[in-house]
Amino acid sequence: MVNGLFITIEGPDGAGKTSVINELYPRLQLIAKRGIVKTREPGGVKISEKIRQIILDPQNEEMDERTEALLYAAARRQHLVQVILPALSAGKIVICDRFVDSSLAYQGAGRRIGMPDIRKINEFATEGTKPDFTLYLDVDSDTGLKRIENARSGRQVDRLETESLEFHQRVRHAYLKLAEEEPIRIHKVDARMSLTDVVEESFTAITESYPQFF
Ligand SMILES: Nc1ncnc2c1ncn2[C@@H]1O[C@H](COP(=O)(O)OP(=O)(O)O)[C@@H](O)[C@H]1O
Ligand SMILES: [Mg+2]
Repeated sequence: MVNGLFITIEGPDGAGKTSVINELYPRLQLIAKRGIVKTREPGGVKISEKIRQIILDPQNEEMDERTEALLYAAARRQHLVQVILPALSAGKIVICDRFVDSSLAYQGAGRRIGMPDIRKINEFATEGTKPDFTLYLDVDSDTGLKRIENARSGRQVDRLETESLEFHQRVRHAYLKLAEEEPIRIHKVDARMSLTDVVEESFTAITESYPQFF
């Protein structure tokens, strides 16, 4: 990507994306030959954070699904412009928790808008920026939702987490389809393994794919 390396981490809720990136990042940092930036959508970018609050607010029951998809794309655009693209232009490695594949899975399949329409609005939003490499953490919906449930401890449930099991199953199947369609970009990891094993496999996959960066 331009000069840098753009890595994303994807997967259903509870797959372990945040846990994995938090362990992976310091390890990659030690051996990176370039600067490395860890980020996540909406990335602490003011405008994107505000958009995200609107999307996730459980009181916004009347939100139309295409409105939701457009808001995600808008938040993504702003984070891309303010955080991801400047880092890539400076030759850095960017590792980002969620990107366009999340919208393809959640809005395209979960909300049943269809992946082609979601792809179109995200191409507009990103001007075709694609990750060089994507780790897909695969977990069945039961396991993922149980992990989220156990981890919640008092935190309010957001608008997407309250969706049905079938919604989350559609999300997972969409991810599996994407991984099958793009086996070179998307590296699938069995995220039912222990966190240590998932991190280990992810670390190896990234560093072996990009020896010029690590
Ligand atoms: N491989 C794993 N095995 C068991 N529990 C895990 C694993 N990875 C993550 N968890 C736990 O599952 C919960 C959700 O993990 P998180 O990293 O927040 O997932 P995500 O960001 O994909 O939604 C956390 O409580 C985390 O400690
Ligand atoms: Mg997370």
